Amino acid sequence: MRRGSGGGAGLDISNKSAKPRLRSAVVDDLSAIAELEARELAPLAYPYFVLRQLFDVHGSRWIVADHGGVLCGYALLAVGPDRKAWLIGMAVSTHHQGRGLGRSLLERALTECRIGDVVSVSITVHPSNTHAISLYKESGFTWVGYDPEYFGAGEPRQLRVKQITADTRWPVDPNDRRWSKGEHLPPGE
Ligand SMILES: CC(C)(COP(=O)(O)OP(=O)(O)OC[C@H]1O[C@@H](n2cnc3c(N)ncnc32)[C@H](O)[C@@H]1OP(=O)(O)O)[C@@H](O)C(=O)NCCC(=O)NCCS
Repeated sequence: MRRGSGGGAGLDISNKSAKPRLRSAVVDDLSAIAELEARELAPLAYPYFVLRQLFDVHGSRWIVADHGGVLCGYALLAVGPDRKAWLIGMAVSTHHQGRGLGRSLLERALTECRIGDVVSVSITVHPSNTHAISLYKESGFTWVGYDPEYFGAGEPRQLRVKQITADTRWPVDPNDRRWSKGEHLPPGE
């Protein structure tokens, strides 16, 4: 899973024991992101080409964790014209999980949002993904919606949102065309 030699200028590949450092993603990270996606999120992983297209639009806000030249985590942010952001991808490689890296990536993404005057950040998560849900809850993402077939037949999602700037509007409009069926009200978490 080593990245190509073109990206990550200035990496210290001799110091593999150092903590991963967070930095902005570059295009040469995409194949490693695709590999990590496939390992951690199959069968729902983004293929390389989708990442490549998303990167063209949103990549300036993507953050990776770099461990001596090896990509070991990422947080992919997309901000819409309404200043509402989505965390459209996040993963930490198995070897690095459980050491605070996922939380650091998420905090860095939230800092990007604050700097960018973002109103809210939304996250789609499968209800069975208890580790991720625990992290999101602890970071202030509240349950605002559920779609029973978001990932396909019988594959639901939870939608969680964290407000960044003061905004009294409810973040999910039940008449939003992106909602097809399912519950839209929070369970009182
Ligand atoms: C979700 C994920 C990114 C978390 O990354 P991580 O580096 O392991 O997380 P951290 O070590 O920063 O832990 C942050 C919190 O996550 C939760 N968490 C992480 N590992 C956990 C575990 N084994 N059991 C329960 N909760 C866990 C906890 O709430 C933890 O907070 P705590 O340490 O205060 O208890 C990582 O598990 C992952 O890549 N999973 C596969 C891909 C994925 O599901 N991505 C999210 C898609 S929505």
